[in-house]
Amino acid sequence: MTTSMTTQQRQAIKIFTHKGNVPDSESEQYHLNVSQYPNSEGLKAEVLRRWNQDGIMVVSNSGMTHLSELKRWGAMIFDDFVDYEGGSAPRSAWGEGVFNIDDTPSHINMCYHNEMCYLPAYPRCFLVGSLAVPKLGGETMVSDNHATTTALLATDVGQQLKTRRVRYIRNMTDKHSDKLSYKSWQDTFKTESREDVERYIAKTDWEYEWLDDGTLRTSYIVDAYEWHENLQENLFFSGMVSHASFFDQWTGFNQLDDPERPFTMTYGDGQPFNDNELQILFDIYNKRSFPIRWQQFDLAILDNLRWTHARPAFQLTENEQRVMGVSMGMMRQRVGAHF
Ligand SMILES: [Fe+2]
Repeated sequence: MTTSMTTQQRQAIKIFTHKGNVPDSESEQYHLNVSQYPNSEGLKAEVLRRWNQDGIMVVSNSGMTHLSELKRWGAMIFDDFVDYEGGSAPRSAWGEGVFNIDDTPSHINMCYHNEMCYLPAYPRCFLVGSLAVPKLGGETMVSDNHATTTALLATDVGQQLKTRRVRYIRNMTDKHSDKLSYKSWQDTFKTESREDVERYIAKTDWEYEWLDDGTLRTSYIVDAYEWHENLQENLFFSGMVSHASFFDQWTGFNQLDDPERPFTMTYGDGQPFNDNELQILFDIYNKRSFPIRWQQFDLAILDNLRWTHARPAFQLTENEQRVMGVSMGMMRQRVGAHF
């Protein structure tokens, strides 16, 4: 397995160069007012219409009283809900098929990403709901991936990614070691058995190795773009949160070399992105993005290929909380790009 890339002394990466550059008035077209649809049939038809047309909708006054009800909204579009096996972030369930999202400390900028882009199969539909929100901050940024891809393909790094692809490297610690840990392989795969993990990996194209300290290291090469079957279009399908620079802002992990951090991404041949390329990749997500400013029991439904999401750092005042849940499904195997 190629893990011998050198760690560069990185310049400070700017993750959010614009905090949303589409006026709120423009993003309001994606808001769905439930009160206009008095019966469930009419509501479902409108949800499906918007799903196909825009791939995004934001629902205020949704009528939810518990995050487990996200599933009811998802069920208007699909019925194969994900149980998050193999996911990279630590999560706990709100109920079957509904997971906690607030696992990253609030002072950390959660970079733009497509959910589960580092796995051989991914959810096309991604739902987020809010249970508790601060008065200020804590918004989710969403970025139009058509605009992102168009901007990226006009750059050298975007063109290189077409042929050189991308490699995701993950280090999942042993839950029973005292090594600094982001997520263990036991929690990732919901098992204590290495054989179970190896059975999962055997169904993928991943390379893997068990390190002496019990860490599982995996490496996966995949297209940086993904074909959208309905739009008949290639879209950039990645996540800068999967790059080691995400941990530059995270005390403890930022002392580790890139290949030793919980995850990183490189070109498919193992060559790291240079500072300039990294900043281009971060910048393009800001080209056509807008914030979802949450109220309690709002929810958003996203086509995970058409829209990329992120969460800027925020601060809570006393007695404030930010509690969010996610649910996802409509699973698709990666087919890669059709250039
Ligand atoms: Fe996410």
